[in-house]
Amino acid sequence: MKFFIDTAKVEEIKKANDMGVICGVTTNPSLIAKAGRAFEDVIAEIASIVDGPISGEVKATTTDAEGMIEEGRKIAKIHPNMVVKIPMTAEGLKACKVLSSEGIKVNVTLIFTANQALLAARAGAAYVSPFLGRLDDISVRGVDLITEVAEIFAVSGIDTEIIAASVRNPIHVTDCALAGADIATVPYAVIEKMIHHPLTDQGIEKFQADYRAVFGE
Ligand code: E4P
Repeated sequence: MKFFIDTAKVEEIKKANDMGVICGVTTNPSLIAKAGRAFEDVIAEIASIVDGPISGEVKATTTDAEGMIEEGRKIAKIHPNMVVKIPMTAEGLKACKVLSSEGIKVNVTLIFTANQALLAARAGAAYVSPFLGRLDDISVRGVDLITEVAEIFAVSGIDTEIIAASVRNPIHVTDCALAGADIATVPYAVIEKMIHHPLTDQGIEKFQADYRAVFGE
């Protein structure tokens, strides 16, 4: 399983990219709003940092296929690595079909059932984003969705990549990897949590203490 970072904060993207752990970025309208800057400016800066797929979502207020197609074409022109993120609706599927046929990569987002993922894949999506955490929030086991989608794509020979989204903690990450997600898109705070283990920290302190006891600083 590969990692994307799920943020529009450039400082977080730089830190994760410098560690070499991410190979792409996902944003959404809420994350762009939190970054507090114009969409095109943020996306262009992100593209100058990470050499990999960058998902930029169509405006939350654009709900018709024509509008999404027009915006999707503009997003795709920002940088060759751009992926157009489109919500899972009938109009979104129409837009996915058209954009994909033009060679523009589409990430169909807000996927909550395996059937939605299958439809998105058949409409030509390069990526589908099943939302794990938001299902857990309503007492539905999110990881089961990732397992179902991975199994269905495998038996149907579908090469659309599964981006496990709405990942909230390190257990989600391990679960997604075991369930067969191709990618997990992870907030920076979760990446930090994945790095640390108390025994690692204790081990470093012990090695330092033992070294200093014999060799000094
Ligand atoms: C990614 O594509 C999604 O926009 C994101 O993971 C949603 O996460 P949330 O449910 O924590 O807002």
